Amino acid sequence: PASDPALVERARRAKAALGDRLFVLGHHYQRDEVIQFADVTGDSFKLAREAAARPDAEYIVFCGVHFMAESADILTSDRQAVVLPDLAAGCSMADMARLAQVEDAWDVLADAGVADVTVPVTYMNSSADIKAFCGRHDGVVCTSSNAASVLRWAFGRGEKVLFLPDQHLGRNTAVLELGLGLEDCVVYDPHLPDGGLTAEELRAATVILWKGHCSVHGRFTLDAVHDVRARVPGVQVLVHPECQHDVVLAADLVGSTEFIIKAVEHAPAGSRWAIGTELNLVQRLARAHPEQEITFLEQHVCYCATMNRIDLPHLVWALENLAAGQVVNQITVDPETERFALAALQRMLELPG
Ligand code: 13P
Ligand code: SF4
Repeated sequence: PASDPALVERARRAKAALGDRLFVLGHHYQRDEVIQFADVTGDSFKLAREAAARPDAEYIVFCGVHFMAESADILTSDRQAVVLPDLAAGCSMADMARLAQVEDAWDVLADAGVADVTVPVTYMNSSADIKAFCGRHDGVVCTSSNAASVLRWAFGRGEKVLFLPDQHLGRNTAVLELGLGLEDCVVYDPHLPDGGLTAEELRAATVILWKGHCSVHGRFTLDAVHDVRARVPGVQVLVHPECQHDVVLAADLVGSTEFIIKAVEHAPAGSRWAIGTELNLVQRLARAHPEQEITFLEQHVCYCATMNRIDLPHLVWALENLAAGQVVNQITVDPETERFALAALQRMLELPG
């Protein structure tokens, strides 16, 4: 639906009043009514870089989810305020790895005699305290656009990787990009004693995958890939690496949201695509590229509910408060967590590529 014109006008006015004091970041999964006000759009890697590159902006309004706003706070100075227009915009995947659970898992690895040779790697989609855990244990953060180079870095430092919290991104990267076997990966289930693994299994494994997943991407199925290939001749299936391994294996192309956008932008007119990522992005791509045939990979998969929490009314509320000198919904990470999380984030940002 079209945005409410009165709210659009209010957002415009508040943004204009704030001028250069304000910088608005928008993740590709945000609603159209919100993304139109973003100064820059991107995947989580690009947005982390953009946040770090804006030392002059007094206010960073993050149109995305909580872990992204936390990362922006870590990467910006204490003088800057990072604002998340709706505090309920969390991420179910990030919630699947709690610090106490990860600390318990580390103890299980230590008891098996493998903690010393394991490098913890966390996907950006995790809370700041999980990033700090990785920073404390000489580990690192990765995103969906650099997971392979980060894993290679990690294997230059240890024999094993504990990959948090997305088992699918971890498995897809280890197997499809680093050439490891499925049998080299084990899944640690935080709800089972000792993660459901024996000490022998932990010693034999190369990648210990945390049992987490994205509640949106995890729902695309192999059947949907087969169906679309049967229905649409010449279709190219393009999916995000948070999808299940069999879906990614059956796809033609796999990559982060930024990769998905570039693949479509550079394709010749008349290309046919079935895209498996968040629906706001797929719909926007379809509208931006009427010269191509773009369909959503699986009709019953829906929007990311928490990304959609950021809507125009919340954005207007945040901007008008900032314009009136009132900082609302500020995301702040405590200094101790920030110090170690920053170390893990910086290791990632310093890697080439
Ligand atoms: P990217 O932004 O890294 O593509 O990740 C997708 C996602 O699920 C963000 O929540
Ligand atoms: Fe989290 Fe998945 Fe939503 Fe991204 S798309 S914010 S990983 S639930």
